[in-house]
Amino acid sequence: MNKKRYLVTSALPYANGYIHLGHIAGAYLPADIYVKYKRLKKEDVIFICGSDEHGTAIEISALKEKVTPKEIIDRYHFANEKAFRDLGIEFDIYSRTSNEIHHKTSQEFFLNLYNKKLLIKKSEKQLYSEIDKKFLADRFVEGTCPICGYEEARGDQCEACGSNLSPLELINPKSKISGDTPIIKESSNFYFPLEKFQTKLEEWISKKTNWKSNVKNYCEGWFKTGLKDRAITRDLDWGVKVPLEGYEGKVIYVWFEAPIGYISATKELFIKKGDPEKWKEYWCDDNTKLIHFIGKDNIIFHAIVFPAMLMAHSGFILPENIPANEFLNLEGGKLSKSKGHGILVKDIVQEYNPDLVRYVVASNLPENKDSDLSIEDFKTKNNNELAGILGNFINRTVVFTKNKFNNKVPERNRNDLEILEDIKKQTEVIEECYENFRFRDALNETMNLARIANKYFNDSEPWNVIKTDIEKCKHIINNCLNICYSIAIAIYPLLPFTSKKILKILNVENSDLSWDKIGKINLVENVELGTNEILFPQIENINKSLENKMEEEITITDFQKLNLKIAKVITCEKVPNSKKLLKLKIKIGKDERQIVAGIAEHYTADELIDKSIVVVANMKKTKIMGIESEGMLLAAKINNKLVLITTDKPIDDGAEVS
Ligand code: MF3
Ligand code: ZN
Repeated sequence: MNKKRYLVTSALPYANGYIHLGHIAGAYLPADIYVKYKRLKKEDVIFICGSDEHGTAIEISALKEKVTPKEIIDRYHFANEKAFRDLGIEFDIYSRTSNEIHHKTSQEFFLNLYNKKLLIKKSEKQLYSEIDKKFLADRFVEGTCPICGYEEARGDQCEACGSNLSPLELINPKSKISGDTPIIKESSNFYFPLEKFQTKLEEWISKKTNWKSNVKNYCEGWFKTGLKDRAITRDLDWGVKVPLEGYEGKVIYVWFEAPIGYISATKELFIKKGDPEKWKEYWCDDNTKLIHFIGKDNIIFHAIVFPAMLMAHSGFILPENIPANEFLNLEGGKLSKSKGHGILVKDIVQEYNPDLVRYVVASNLPENKDSDLSIEDFKTKNNNELAGILGNFINRTVVFTKNKFNNKVPERNRNDLEILEDIKKQTEVIEECYENFRFRDALNETMNLARIANKYFNDSEPWNVIKTDIEKCKHIINNCLNICYSIAIAIYPLLPFTSKKILKILNVENSDLSWDKIGKINLVENVELGTNEILFPQIENINKSLENKMEEEITITDFQKLNLKIAKVITCEKVPNSKKLLKLKIKIGKDERQIVAGIAEHYTADELIDKSIVVVANMKKTKIMGIESEGMLLAAKINNKLVLITTDKPIDDGAEVS
């Protein structure tokens, strides 16, 4: 018997920050929904994830916070593991790329390619610090941007003008570690011959007719540009050491070893289960379907680089599908810029039922294009859909049973299975969605199950029937209770916590859930139900602090882009024909400028003269009502009150504010 196996992975998140809803929508919730569905179908499926714990970003964070990389990765690894658990996302293993088994596995992988003479050695000029005793990776160098003159440009890009740079282009480069001025020295590194694999990859992907079009389009784009060989070793300390003599102080590039982490984690899983060879069934047997859930920024690594690595190594299966998602954005004015970063899982689970979070994210999944999540959704989807449709059906059925039938499952007494068959038919529609990775549709079709159920309840009018035909009423309610059970199964992939609550209400907590049981008679007659519970209490207000948390966090560098200065107001007058605007002449040290500010309803012109105020001195010039304005003043505003930010003690104009 050749039973199919599923090996499902979610992108290994960097242990360098907290998981937010953008991540969840990209790679984790869809994967978890899919896996839960497959488990209900009694398929053989394992679900692999873990922390990606190498890479310069982690080393830089450690440097900034003056702690070791280990401290950083521990902090985020455990926090993120908990965040996933709190949302009901259940990996079979949540491993870490810092584990020894991963180092060993990726070194062996590297050596396999090295021994086949597939890797290309290249010597390149690089910055080296005699004080730090090492080559300085891009982000460990800072210097003056050759394009715009910004003095704190990074080795990989200038944050002021956005140019991509290489460390060798920086004027007056300095080590970020010690401040040392580095020298130029040759360093040799290995490249993976990606170019060589283009034809094979193109052929392979061309046969993937069931891949999502966004994923195929990205791939075709890269093929068109032509694949380039990629450096796979780096002059860094933090990472998996290059397992060759003479390469001390070098590590395997994080994007080469991280995907191998899926393999290492699978090994670790089966070692823990006491079956250490079994990982091979999942990675080396054609009956296994490997499915990578990722966000769109990871497509090139999963659809092109990693498959090429697997081809080069040989002996491994290739991904069957890569249902990558686009980005989830947060909608609404000032929030629209942030990319889901605003809502951290650890915060939102304090606020809402995790199933509501799953539901809101699932109904906004960016499956084909970027999507917008509005925090109003938490209220409207809870009240109108989860409570109004799903919760309502369960509640009315259970309350009716309690009031009219002593809280016991009433007996069936006719041979009518029509409604259960309708339910079964609807689950075939849902299955079709899951099999094609259309999770938003799956959610809508699952809610339609509850709509069908409500319609049955309404049309059957048990509250009337009971007056004339109690037997018929028993039968109707028996149907409704069995539909509750069916719904508990069908919603399980999407709303696992609610599924369990329904089973508890039905007093069948320990029954084995299986997709096959949907639309069947599962409840035993005359058995008493458990205690009813309101599944989705109404939400009246959206917590404002959540909205605040949604604002994007900035770094010190972002803040430093603002050039805040103390200015003295020299003259001030009202702008003709405007209720709101004042025109000010201000002095910032030697500099005199004109600015236009919307404060005329709060200050008279005379009041302002001689005041020390705070201005943004590096605003791009603009015209307001045809009048030039070269700066912006700072004021605090609440309701209809506005006051200027001034200084606590006298200070000369021109002083910097930071
Ligand atoms: N850490 C990467 C990211 O968050 C994803 C790594 S996926 C893996 O973008 F395949 F490399 F593991
Ligand atoms: Zn620049």
